[in-house]
Amino acid sequence: MCGIIGIVGNKPVAERLIESLKRLEYRGYDSAGIAGVVGGKVERRRAKGKIKALEAVVAEDPLVAQTGIGHTRWATHGAPNVQNAHPHTAGRVTLVHNGIIENFAELKAELAAAGRTFSSDTDTEVIAHLIDAELATGLAPLDAFKATLDRLTGAYALAVLIEGEANLVLGARRGSPLVVGEGQGEMFLGSDALAVGPFTNRVVYLDEGDYVALDHDSYRIFDASGVAVTRPVRVVPTSAVMLEKGNYRHFMEKEIHDQPEGCQRTISAYVDTLTSRASVPGDIDFSKLDRIQIVACGTSFIAGMVGKYLIEQLADLPVDVEIASEFRYRTPALRSGSLVVAMSQSGETADTLAALRYCKAKGMKSAVVVNAQESTMAREVDVVWPIHCGPEIGVASTKAFTAQVSVMIALAIAAAKARGTIDAAEEQRLVKVLLEAPRLIAEAIGLEDAIKEIAADVAKARDVLYLGRGPMSALALEGALKLKEISYIHAEGYAAGELKHGPIALVDDQTPIVILAPHDSYFEKSASNMSEVMARGGQVIFITDTEGVKHAPAGAKVVVTAPASDPLVSTLVMSAPIQLLAYHVAVVKGADVDQPRNLAKSVTVE
Ligand code: AGP
Repeated sequence: MCGIIGIVGNKPVAERLIESLKRLEYRGYDSAGIAGVVGGKVERRRAKGKIKALEAVVAEDPLVAQTGIGHTRWATHGAPNVQNAHPHTAGRVTLVHNGIIENFAELKAELAAAGRTFSSDTDTEVIAHLIDAELATGLAPLDAFKATLDRLTGAYALAVLIEGEANLVLGARRGSPLVVGEGQGEMFLGSDALAVGPFTNRVVYLDEGDYVALDHDSYRIFDASGVAVTRPVRVVPTSAVMLEKGNYRHFMEKEIHDQPEGCQRTISAYVDTLTSRASVPGDIDFSKLDRIQIVACGTSFIAGMVGKYLIEQLADLPVDVEIASEFRYRTPALRSGSLVVAMSQSGETADTLAALRYCKAKGMKSAVVVNAQESTMAREVDVVWPIHCGPEIGVASTKAFTAQVSVMIALAIAAAKARGTIDAAEEQRLVKVLLEAPRLIAEAIGLEDAIKEIAADVAKARDVLYLGRGPMSALALEGALKLKEISYIHAEGYAAGELKHGPIALVDDQTPIVILAPHDSYFEKSASNMSEVMARGGQVIFITDTEGVKHAPAGAKVVVTAPASDPLVSTLVMSAPIQLLAYHVAVVKGADVDQPRNLAKSVTVE
């Protein structure tokens, strides 16, 4: 997902634009650029690769301006190179864009037919030409901008400079987030609160379709129909400490270690420690609910899978969990008496947002389990179920995952009590189990040195298989996803019972097989799966707990012993070993842990 910053300022802007872009690196990118209004003209500086390449260009050829825009690009249309790097210029207009313009080809053909030529392969450049063409008809900048927005279909967040307008930045959002940052004698535009965080914590979240004109001491917001509106100013506690790596090498490492605290903060928002009762915000009557439909992507989808196991087991409430990109296009049979729960760390994932909107249109009540509490999803649902793990910067989700699972557990307990499938005593017992989880997670993180030793071997593998049963089958998917997305080693997660239906053909003495087997009701079956793969030369990494290790079959290449835990929270405890394994394998391989190739922290395009 691209990152955007705009500043209408009263002091040199180049370094501040770059400082903000560094805050946006976590979103994933392959090129970067800035532009500024210099003596009425607009100058650009762009570079392929990381921001330090852009810094070198600016050092070589300084940009002296007080009003400017900046961008980190995650390529959608056009290769990642300088020519396609933003900002893009056409005539008097220079702009940056996050999103995809779906009708850009027809617009480009129309502009070419009118004699305009293009210097990039991007959809973004088309927007610049459209605004410039409207300006050429004599329209004022804001009117030319609005006329252009009305012609676009698709998703955009935009920041725009106009030649000769040193005290103006234009912005707009549809489908991609954009915020205004309120400063003293200067105004900011950014993709999110982190982008403007170095300059202000007073943030205005633009709504879908809003567009805005900023000058250095004011801003005017208009809704999609062109009516002037005001949006609430929020003070966002994006403290610098939450964004620094501390003494960790990577944000991901820090975020793995932050999990006990993140889960603690999240759990305490859903349980009453005095009465040991669980509750979720909002007026959902679980006793009358006939189904929960969970829609999500990636790791959030896997957190939803864990939720399914627990909610159905405890509350006898049917739960369907679906990949949002499939769900939204398959015409699902939905009933208005169901609840749709979107799961999303960013609250901006395009497919999840579309699936959520689909369900809302069918009359379903809606909730979102989300980290970014001012995100688009958070502002569109009936009820927000926040996680409180702080900003997650590493592209590979870790602390958000366990915080989401914590919410799922609290939800399962609250729904079970409301539906009468557990009594008050059992609710209190389960709440106490949940409250102990952060301590057990911290103990599991203490396995890091043992995991590091395994990592060197796993780093040599071509393929890795993860197996588990019950909720651990979901965690097997998560372990495989973590490994592949940061170390680039092919990995697959499977329900262990599926082994003999195909995957066992993969087993040889070259393929590490990670078996997740806490000592729960599935343990015996998992132990027999372990024997099956060892009989075929499989190199088993057996991740169990202090109870399971007493009963584990001999012969595993490695046994990792996590603290024993109640099945209610075992996915929280067993997450740390698989996250640490992926992390240390990626470190051994010298991979870009926090910003893996081709990935973005939040996928706001389809
Ligand atoms: C997980 O490590 C990935 N970063 C990715 O699968 C992510 O979970 C997915 O893109 C969903 O993002 P969201 O939670 O912000 O919606």
